[in-house]
Amino acid sequence: MAKTQETLLVTGACGQLGTELTAALAQAYGANRVIATDIRQPQNAAHTFERFEVLDITQGNEMAEFIQKHGITHIYHLAALLSATGEQKPMLAWQVNMQGWLNVLEVSREVGIQQIYFPSSIAAFGADTPRENTPQTTVMNPGTVYGISKYAGELWANYYCHRYGLDVRSLRYPGLISYSTPPGGGTTDYAVDIFYKALETGHYTCFLDAETRLPMMYMPDAIKATLQLMQADQSAIKVRTSYNLTAFSFTPAEIAQAIRQHIPAFEIQYAPDFRQAIADSWPATIDDSQARMDWGWQPDYDLAAMVKDMIANLQQRNSQIMAIV
Ligand SMILES: NC(=O)c1ccc[n+]([C@@H]2O[C@H](COP(=O)([O-])OP(=O)(O)OC[C@H]3O[C@@H](n4cnc5c(N)ncnc54)[C@H](O)[C@@H]3O)[C@@H](O)[C@H]2O)c1
Repeated sequence: MAKTQETLLVTGACGQLGTELTAALAQAYGANRVIATDIRQPQNAAHTFERFEVLDITQGNEMAEFIQKHGITHIYHLAALLSATGEQKPMLAWQVNMQGWLNVLEVSREVGIQQIYFPSSIAAFGADTPRENTPQTTVMNPGTVYGISKYAGELWANYYCHRYGLDVRSLRYPGLISYSTPPGGGTTDYAVDIFYKALETGHYTCFLDAETRLPMMYMPDAIKATLQLMQADQSAIKVRTSYNLTAFSFTPAEIAQAIRQHIPAFEIQYAPDFRQAIADSWPATIDDSQARMDWGWQPDYDLAAMVKDMIANLQQRNSQIMAIV
């Protein structure tokens, strides 16, 4: 149960995950207890933050001042550059993802932050990792700057937990699918873009090939998992690097087929680009039995339920826009 003196900081709050996680935290803990921050100003209708401030996570001193000034007790550290953007700007990705995370951990140790959330990713795995039913503990060897930063970030989370007693918790999200906010430069972005194109033009050209199977999750499940992990009893949290997490896996051909159940004339073509090599180095399916066992993880949405809900929500939004125009 939320204590009244809790004040939550969300970094990267304007992103795909931050937009919806911030709203869920505001609902759970009270909108005035949640401070949304990002390097950019909110610009989306879904950004309904009661409290918002610009904060650049690479500026450690400014972050420390901010955290002390606002009496922050909990941090949800979402700000990062994602996999595809990271391959285009490797040094910037390392600076944002790694230095930003170390800034959070250091100030948390200094001021005694009560709880910290760090999102990792299936990108922390690499080409040497078993691709099917990828175990919780296995060979990692990530091949992208993004993946290296997430894997190193997991190890730092584990280190600060055991060395300094910080309550850092983390999930290795699969690709996240949502309709509120556009995705921010990841390799699984196609699984969101495809819905917009299916509704707008009835046609989509996919940047991955037809048979590329990747683990995915609908945003309501990602939010549910995050809140469930953070609200679990300390004694239940056995993994302090990051928990494997999944809902379902599919290929571009399979999601196209699922969309055709609602839009029969939908057509897809394939033009793989540099993101194909990234996807080929990631797991196809994930074993998340440890999360299920330790804190009761269970997804609500399968592929068919996600597709139905995405299309219904995007159609509703389009009809509202048409009504305004
Ligand atoms: N979306 C996914 O499919 C997915 C999957 C696995 C893990 N994750 C992780 O979840 C987190 C959120 O991802 P997302 O999809 O919302 O990403 P996003 O790109 O949509 O949002 C990231 C946000 O971080 C902000 N940001 C960038 N540099 C910053 C800086 N220096 N200071 C402050 N803010 C800065 C950006 O402006 C952006 O709003 C990330 O850590 C990401 O690695 C996402």
